[in-house]
Amino acid sequence: MTKTPLPGGQDSWQKPPVAMLAELTHRCPLQCPYCSNPRELSRRSDELSTKEWIDIFAQAARLGVLQLHLSGGEPTARKDLVDLIAAAREQGIYSNLITAGVLLTPDKIAAYKAAGLDHVQLSIQDSDPQNANRIGNHKGGHGKKLAAAAWVCEAGLPLTVNAVVHRQNLDHLQDIIELAASLNAHRLEIAHVQYYGWALQNIEALMPTAAQVEKANRLAAEAADVYRGRMVIDYVVPDYFARRPKRCMDGWGNQFFAITPRGLVLPCHAAETLTGLSFSSLREKSLEWIWREDPAFQRFRGTDWMAEPCRSCEFRDIDLGGCRCQAFALAGDAALTDPVCHLSPHHEKVVALAEAAASVQDVTYLYRR
Ligand code: SF4
Ligand code: FES
Repeated sequence: MTKTPLPGGQDSWQKPPVAMLAELTHRCPLQCPYCSNPRELSRRSDELSTKEWIDIFAQAARLGVLQLHLSGGEPTARKDLVDLIAAAREQGIYSNLITAGVLLTPDKIAAYKAAGLDHVQLSIQDSDPQNANRIGNHKGGHGKKLAAAAWVCEAGLPLTVNAVVHRQNLDHLQDIIELAASLNAHRLEIAHVQYYGWALQNIEALMPTAAQVEKANRLAAEAADVYRGRMVIDYVVPDYFARRPKRCMDGWGNQFFAITPRGLVLPCHAAETLTGLSFSSLREKSLEWIWREDPAFQRFRGTDWMAEPCRSCEFRDIDLGGCRCQAFALAGDAALTDPVCHLSPHHEKVVALAEAAASVQDVTYLYRR
């Protein structure tokens, strides 16, 4: 395929990445219906080995990566996690463990900390234990998460609580905020579901109503004031209910890449949902080549790839045309304007889809398996 010309007429991309997401495994004891893993999960036998990951961290450090997000699936399902954390520390990379928490023990946390772990991000599904366990389809999971949060703080590691919100838990948002504060979280990330992959399969159970979103916007703003200086609240108005889309990933292949359990390198964690693009493997190419030259990374960099209405829009350098995965999921073409933008010719269809989904009474989940 022809390479999209890069801003400034460069032949290859010279700017270094800032952060990487290492999806160590797709194995997970939870089965959340909005999981960002692909519908087709990688098998354990295909996972990168300890040696391969350690080599990748060294390549990443040479390329300029500063932050590593250890994720999955559930990264603590990997028995070599201590070695991987130590390898990141040896390369001088800041490491954040993104975990569902249900496999954690005080001993494991102490070992991760001793190996050099810098931060823990713990997901919760709700403040209500019964609903939380139903969303994750894991009996007793909520209680284990609360225990894990306490162990993380006792170990002296900073804690972020991540709550993915949707129609089935948004009415508990105030309780979720208070729960995060009671767990001594430094930061609470309130993340509305993004509708591609598993979440798109579950859109009728998950899409919030306009009234829920309006209330959530207000509660999040109030909480930011109430908890200022104690707990940072990260909240973004969901783009289905905004007029313009978000600047997804801070731009395609701009600062960030993700590595799948079997070693594919993606410009965003959901990029495998884009069926027209193929991604390179670290089993065949170097990380440096992929970052600088891979056609999949070049495809949506900058703004030259844009068609109308983005091409001549005053916001094109601000939101970069929104999310490529959402454009593909909702309009069938990743090169189109994100249909959540009110200027997209597909926008009305998306508004109608959201309204129809939010009005469905059925809450049966198709669990990620
Ligand atoms: Fe952003 Fe494109 Fe919409 Fe303009 S037309 S606001 S650049 S998504
Ligand atoms: Fe893939 Fe937005 S999630 S570009």
